[in-house]
Amino acid sequence: MNQRQLFLQHVGQTSPEPLALEITKAEGALLFNADGKEYIDLIGGISVANVGHRHPKVLAAIQQQLDAYMHIMVYGELVQTPQVQYAKLLTQYLPASLNNVYFTNSGAEAIEGAMKLSKRYTGRPKIIACNFSYHGSTQGALSLLGDEYWRSAYRPLLPGITHVNYNTQEAIDAVDTQTACIIIETIQAEGGVKPPKAEWLQALRKKCTETGTLLVLDEVQAGFGRTGKLWGFENFDIVPDILVLGKALGGGMPLGAFVADKTIMDSFTLNPVLGHITTFGGHPVCCAAGMAAMQALLEENLIAQVHEKAQLFISLLQHPGIVAVHQYGLWLAVEFDSFTTNKKIIDACIEQGVFSDWFLFAANCLRISPPLVITREQIKKACAVILEAIDK
Ligand SMILES: Cc1ncc(COP(=O)(O)O)c(C=O)c1O
Repeated sequence: MNQRQLFLQHVGQTSPEPLALEITKAEGALLFNADGKEYIDLIGGISVANVGHRHPKVLAAIQQQLDAYMHIMVYGELVQTPQVQYAKLLTQYLPASLNNVYFTNSGAEAIEGAMKLSKRYTGRPKIIACNFSYHGSTQGALSLLGDEYWRSAYRPLLPGITHVNYNTQEAIDAVDTQTACIIIETIQAEGGVKPPKAEWLQALRKKCTETGTLLVLDEVQAGFGRTGKLWGFENFDIVPDILVLGKALGGGMPLGAFVADKTIMDSFTLNPVLGHITTFGGHPVCCAAGMAAMQALLEENLIAQVHEKAQLFISLLQHPGIVAVHQYGLWLAVEFDSFTTNKKIIDACIEQGVFSDWFLFAANCLRISPPLVITREQIKKACAVILEAIDK
């Protein structure tokens, strides 16, 4: 059996038709298969490879940490320098009230932690989430997921969760003194790049403060420069009580985090102690990689290029077959009339060396969330391929 057949036979599958491309190397904004065929990566591992695949500074940091130690103890007991240093760097670039970082293995685990911390700190039972939101696939995160089709097979889910519509007064009205937290994506990702109205987010912030409800912002996709600012919430002049990070946080290695004020985070330390337990959360090699990626993002001025690169995509993606282009920062959802059309275009793009996919709740939209290091030439080439694919 070849690698593809072995993959289908022995690796747990989640789809009857996986892409099943065999990628053997990745570098910058490019992927390569075993025959050396090159693909421009328009997805970046779904908003993971913001500084590009295999950034040299990330590789060097990983190597240096491998030479010191890998896993030595479960989370929280030992002083592990990569965790300490990365938490320091993150909090230096966050508002003063986001000064304490709990590292996890993944975005979903960070969401679980944020849900638990909110209940623990407020002593309240209710959590609010939004329709068309995606926060991960574990039972708690799945209970937040804003689409009955995707969650219904797993009932019973967590009780006490209500769903509201993003960007509406209904969401603000739903927050009351029994609400532990409202969890929203700063920009709804899988709905097809849907930003909030600034006034809405500000009014929601105010209602949370008035009712003692924690505002949890999920920036697992929106973080690390994707929106044109380091953090998505900076675009809307508000500060969350808990910030959830993942994906690009690890620079290509698995890492998540939730960040809060120390007074909130300390709720995990008493009655009972060990409020959240994780063996590998904040793995030293992942923290070393993530910190190097964040330093590279800042040093190489990648965020400053986001708007210009996004405008280049928008100016080139002009075609009567495109229904709309939804965009926020270097993050675009190119809308077609149906999933069938979109899938046909995605397949043709892959055939021609441009890698993309669709969104969970917007299957008729083609995803563009490339590594921020993508070059102007690569953008032009990718857009030409997309336009050709539409015409096929
Ligand atoms: C907005 C958002 N939150 C949370 C998650 C969950 O992250 P992970 O897949 O690392 O568990 C994802 C994953 O796609 C996501 O897009």
